[in-house]
Amino acid sequence: MAKLTRRSFLTTGLAATATGAIASEARAEAPAGEPAPSDPLSVQAEVDGESLTFLVGPDTTALHALRAAGRTGVKEGCGHGACGACTIVRDARTTCACLLPATALQGAKVTTVHGLGAKGLHPVQRAFMAEDALQCGFCTPGFVVEAADWVDRWRAEHGDVEPTRDRVAAALAGHLCRCGAYVAIYRAVQGAAAGRYDAGDDVGPRKDGHAKVTGEARYTVDVQLPGMLHGAILRAPFARGRLQRLDLAAARSVPGVHGVIRLLEDGASIRYFGQEIAAVAADDEASAQAGLKALAPELESERPILGFEDAMAEGAPTIFPKRAHKQAPSAAEGFLPPAPWDESNVRGPFRSDWFSGHRKASDILDEASLTVEERYETQIQAHCTLEPHATVAQVHESGQIEVWASTQAVVQLVHDIAERFDVHERDIVVHADYVGGGFGAKAGITIDAVVAIELAYETGRPVRVVLS
Ligand code: FES
Ligand code: FES
Repeated sequence: MAKLTRRSFLTTGLAATATGAIASEARAEAPAGEPAPSDPLSVQAEVDGESLTFLVGPDTTALHALRAAGRTGVKEGCGHGACGACTIVRDARTTCACLLPATALQGAKVTTVHGLGAKGLHPVQRAFMAEDALQCGFCTPGFVVEAADWVDRWRAEHGDVEPTRDRVAAALAGHLCRCGAYVAIYRAVQGAAAGRYDAGDDVGPRKDGHAKVTGEARYTVDVQLPGMLHGAILRAPFARGRLQRLDLAAARSVPGVHGVIRLLEDGASIRYFGQEIAAVAADDEASAQAGLKALAPELESERPILGFEDAMAEGAPTIFPKRAHKQAPSAAEGFLPPAPWDESNVRGPFRSDWFSGHRKASDILDEASLTVEERYETQIQAHCTLEPHATVAQVHESGQIEVWASTQAVVQLVHDIAERFDVHERDIVVHADYVGGGFGAKAGITIDAVVAIELAYETGRPVRVVLS
């Protein structure tokens, strides 16, 4: 991967700034990160009591149309109907905005979390704050919209009778809270349905509770900067092989594309499905996807190594040759705790200094009065946050790098960026106002940050990269 420094930015990046600015004036105004309508259709809807007109394409979702219209409290978690973070009310029915074509908003009356609290908080919003029914808050707008609709209907039918916990759980079954705030969520909804939160100003223990229950909390995926571009990554379509050749020129000439960077050199190994090969920055998602398509890398696939047995078999190809061990990123490919790594694919055993000092596992076993030998296996477990990994990066003319990141470790990220891009730490600013979950997986510089910053250098414009 080409390593950009402050010096190379000052000699090449500022030229890109000038051309980027000229190009942007001549372009359509679809907000960065949202699909651009290739054949715009005009859709009119009443959203939160306001009459709005959307220009959308046939593939634009209601989620993207609403977010582009500033309703960023409508969250995109899974993007395919599994998490409920994007819930809205459309014509008196709750629905997932990510599964709804934007054209289905035509003539509709829509309520988002922003409309819910417009004339004073709904009892459900008060209850969520008072009962502390949230943590990161990324799932909260979806829960609140669904629960408010359900509570209103429940009370119309039953009065202030408290529903059972199971009843509430069934009503909210389409929603996931990765932080696991379910106990308090159900308690809050039961309380709201029983009329205990019709009034009052108990804001609960969380300073940011109000911002989260009203959808006003701005996460990294919600950041919009003037002139911001959408970054997208080309990934390996198979688990093992080689990048033979990649020509960036065709992608650079795609309309709407402002920058293309290579993330793998010609001849480099591909070690896993989805490995990053190159990235583009474009006006919108559609242009970015067209840019990725134009890249057309020449790839050579090889037999993948699947599972322990395959990896440890006699003569198994080595995924990481010894000299490349240090380049293995700790996320996914490497092993964070100290562990030896020989010439084969076997890494470890993990030296568990944290738990047992410097003693070897074999010594401990020798002293044991009873040993049980068994083999246990499990699938790979991956952290999953409702807010995806996301970074918005801007490189200022002064050379300062400004980053909005979904990160748990602001100071560490500053340090990592300084090292990776050869910039002094005082010239780096990292914002992380709200983080939609991390669980230990957002603790250092990840590929979204690297790509966003490199594309920002390349284009001279702010770039947002959101992993799916
Ligand atoms: Fe729509 Fe998850 S259900 S974003
Ligand atoms: Fe529910 Fe974080 S509070 S996902």
